[in-house]
Amino acid sequence: MKILGIESSCDETAAAVVEDGVCLLSSVVASQLDTHSKYGGVVPELASREHLRAIVPVVRQALDEAHTNLTDLSAIAVTAGPGLVGSLLVGVTYAKALSFAVGLPLIAVNHVEGHIYSVLMDSAAEREPILPPALALVASGGHTHLYEVCGQGRYRLLGHTRDDAAGEAFDKVAKLLGFGYPGGPVIDRLAPFGDPRAVRFTLARMKGNSLDFSFSGLKTAVLRWVQQHDLDEEIAARRALLARDPSPSVEQWLAHTPRRTLDLLASFQYTVIQELLGHVRLSAAEIGANAVIVAGGVAANEGLRRAAALEPNSGSPLTFHFSRRTLSTDNAAMIAAAAFPKLERREFAGFDLKAQAALALTC
Ligand code: KG4
Ligand code: ZN
Repeated sequence: MKILGIESSCDETAAAVVEDGVCLLSSVVASQLDTHSKYGGVVPELASREHLRAIVPVVRQALDEAHTNLTDLSAIAVTAGPGLVGSLLVGVTYAKALSFAVGLPLIAVNHVEGHIYSVLMDSAAEREPILPPALALVASGGHTHLYEVCGQGRYRLLGHTRDDAAGEAFDKVAKLLGFGYPGGPVIDRLAPFGDPRAVRFTLARMKGNSLDFSFSGLKTAVLRWVQQHDLDEEIAARRALLARDPSPSVEQWLAHTPRRTLDLLASFQYTVIQELLGHVRLSAAEIGANAVIVAGGVAANEGLRRAAALEPNSGSPLTFHFSRRTLSTDNAAMIAAAAFPKLERREFAGFDLKAQAALALTC
């Protein structure tokens, strides 16, 4: 059974065809990076306009690459939320229209559940199912959430960020230092050139739920460090570099980044990773989970993957399952994969389906 997935919750217009929830036949992602990077973040109005432009060719390309006609499909799945409402609306309206025109069932998918399925689809394909209770960390530009995966389609929220998401912290720190948008990939590539213990950052302990996150204090600590070290000249040089070349190589960045700033980047990334892994250890122990799913844009982080791979050395019982790098950031394959169990359960959406900016993931 083939499902066409459609994703437009933020700044990527994506479509994919997935067979039986596990076999990826195509995955097309049209990024809007060029549109938003000069503003240092996503501009919602521009995002909706770009989705409108891209959605038809992206869906057509996904069907072509999968050698699939609309008549070969069993359902159309679409992200209904959470996300930017104007962006979501484009995907939801298009999916509704297509489903009505070709007479296929419509399936609404929660974007965060989609991220979790970017990992579950691979474990199912390899016939190594991740058994409950499992822990899922979804860390992206919009979310830093910890869930207990209690069973198929059943989740319990254990903790979430009270302010900035982890990816958002990467983006804000990169913007502040003149590294452009998005910040995660560039900080990830430069962090190995600095000393992660050079700058000691401490994160505030949470009152109330100790499994909640807060990254805004870290962002402010970085800002304070920058103000104390007079980085104006190097920041201006990096901004000029970006204006000449929108995607500089690591060598180009290194030529514009003194050692102390590389140390700052390494220390910032190290602090975020320690915070994420610390919360993972605590919550896994609380629910008795050994399997940890890590998904969302921040799951692409090499430093996080390396630190997680070292966990068993410290006697930790945790087994980490990361999404493949290509499926860590937003894509539609995860949406089609998450829709498959809903198709089996015949959990269909009506044409009154609405785009919802804040859609909680619950069981
Ligand atoms: O999942 P995603 O594509 O979109 C949301 O649902 O938000 O995540 C995008 C976020 C951005 O904040 C980006 O900076 C971050 O993921 N990101 C990374 C890396 N690649 C993307 N963060 C850290 N390291 C990376 N390698
Ligand atoms: Zn996402």
